[in-house]
Amino acid sequence: MGAPADQGLIVRRIRDGTVIDHIPAGRALTVLRILGLSGREGLRIALVMNVESRKLGRKDIVKVEGLSLTREATDLIALVAPTATINIVKDYRVVEKRRVKVPDEVVGLLQCPNPTCITRKRGEPIKPRFVKVSESPLVLRCVYCGTKLGEEDIVRQFEGAH
Ligand code: CTP
Ligand code: ZN
Repeated sequence: MGAPADQGLIVRRIRDGTVIDHIPAGRALTVLRILGLSGREGLRIALVMNVESRKLGRKDIVKVEGLSLTREATDLIALVAPTATINIVKDYRVVEKRRVKVPDEVVGLLQCPNPTCITRKRGEPIKPRFVKVSESPLVLRCVYCGTKLGEEDIVRQFEGAH
């Protein structure tokens, strides 16, 4: 009984790949966008949303088959799902379990909200670059203009994009 048995009924265990568990409820699609996965890569992906969790009340789960995500990739998940746990699965076994941690620098992924920032200039080759000011609550700062970004701003950027 309990959550693991219930999940088994929704999506079966995978053979090889990455299971991103304990995602805050409703954030699974945002996690896929952070990872740059559109579904058009041909990978088999399972999304489970709003299932019961002992730790979180409700949670989402993303299972990506055939892909062992690197720590660099999964740390970006911390931007929108700090509670996420990463499980690397090989031959049906969890061979590595890791937490996610916001990287000290985030380059090229997020847009600066300041319209006069140098990173927003047309034809300007400067990539947006943010440094971590604090992890909880999440605050990033644009290295070029000092504008700060919080978790809600970051989630909004990914929810707008398709
Ligand atoms: N999982 C999977 N396929 C496998 C092995 C595990 O899809 N072959 C999934 C499980 O369904 C679970 C997650 O990977 O969502 C972690 O598995 P496991 O460590 O066995 O579960 P728990 O002990 O419940 O994990 P935690 O301690 O992180 O809560
Ligand atoms: Zn800026």
